Amino acid sequence: MIDTNRISDFYSKTVLEHMTAPRNWGVTQDCDGFGRAAGSCGDTMEIALKIKDDSILACTFESEGCGATIACGSIVTQMATGRRVAEARRIDQKAILEYCGGLPDKNGHCALLAAEALQRAIDDHYQMQRAPWKKLYRTAR
Ligand code: FES
Repeated sequence: MIDTNRISDFYSKTVLEHMTAPRNWGVTQDCDGFGRAAGSCGDTMEIALKIKDDSILACTFESEGCGATIACGSIVTQMATGRRVAEARRIDQKAILEYCGGLPDKNGHCALLAAEALQRAIDDHYQMQRAPWKKLYRTAR
């Protein structure tokens, strides 16, 4: 169990909410866009998108990263859900940091990891539109 009394000195209320109760957890490669990214620290994040008529109906994630990474994954899925794909493409590290009220310097790369996983899922979506047969060659989890 996370002791929010101590870490609240370092993390915003929004970050703590997502850290302790992450939204949209769980990915499947049976989706319309799948992205996996690795951070500079070696932690990874996966994001899966369900897309219809160019709108993101669902955005889910999984990560084995730190608490800040879990919060950023949860936040980026919430930011992307309901948006047009082209709008979601503009969600970057800075947008995540603004949304969550900032992170300690040592965790800035956690927001970058979440943004990169989302961008790779969107790239995958565009690639699947151009060459749907490539979905067959996604690596199994
Ligand atoms: Fe590496 Fe958060 S992603 S410490």
